[in-house]
Amino acid sequence: MSYETILTEKKGAVTLITLNRPKALNALNSQVLTELIDAFAAFENDESQLCAVLTGAGDKAFAAGADIKEMADKPAADFLKEDYFSGWTNDIVKKVRKPWIAAVNGFALGGGCELAMMADFIIASENAKFGQPEIKLGVAPGMGGSQRLTRFVGKSKAMEMCLTGRMMGAEEAERSGLVTRVVSADELLDDALRTAETIAGMPPLAVMINKEMVNVAYETVLDQGLLAERRMFQVLTATEDKTEGMKAFVEKRPGNWKGR
Ligand code: CAA
Repeated sequence: MSYETILTEKKGAVTLITLNRPKALNALNSQVLTELIDAFAAFENDESQLCAVLTGAGDKAFAAGADIKEMADKPAADFLKEDYFSGWTNDIVKKVRKPWIAAVNGFALGGGCELAMMADFIIASENAKFGQPEIKLGVAPGMGGSQRLTRFVGKSKAMEMCLTGRMMGAEEAERSGLVTRVVSADELLDDALRTAETIAGMPPLAVMINKEMVNVAYETVLDQGLLAERRMFQVLTATEDKTEGMKAFVEKRPGNWKGR
């Protein structure tokens, strides 16, 4: 499959995958998901590839979220029928048994923050900004934000971030346990690739089991939470505030909320 929205490159035993829609701040549309599923499957099935790094093109964003322009006019029934966002958990998180690292530069918002949290761990640059601003669009996270962010940083910070949409800078993200470490923007990719090479040099079966075991500790009841969260996102797409919130974003003006 040839890709239009991502780039992939093999660097020895490490696959580098780059979200490549910099003009849209690497927003995650259906095509990105389809291509990422294919790229992660290729990585998983290639015996020469032992660890992957996912990053965003440009210096402004890892990914600024699910593509609002794609969702703005979509009827609520379609979100439900398509089980919108299910591919992220079902085809990327669950099917990839090899480790992968998110190297986060700039904005990781909404689905971008959620995608970074799907990685086995996150390395951030000093300019990284994490957030779940879905509330400003009249919805709530739909790709794991309310569930994974709460597990990473605890209820208080996750609740505040989801309710206010405020962003968390790199230093706070490290202090809160969201990211492994913070490095300079210039160092980010080298650091992530070096770390991936170290993992690629470990015994592959032990790598697989270590990943599984940490995830067992982390995910015991996550599945139910993710399904509930996705349904709630899909239900919120039926509200007038969702239509208004996404329209207001496209028109670059504040939303006028109705509470219905
Ligand atoms: N979807 C679609 N397009 C997006 C986008 C998104 N999530 N984020 C940014 N873009 C586009 C902008 O529309 C703009 O395109 P145009 O040049 O065609 O107008 C371009 O990327 C550059 O963005 P800005 O001009 O807005 O850049 P900025 O520097 O002024 O602001 C920002 C940066 C604060 C990140 C701002 O772009 C922003 O708030 N983006 C939306 C963030 C957001 O709400 N994310 C959550 C999406 S919903 C979601 O993800 C649901 C879920 O749980 C999965």
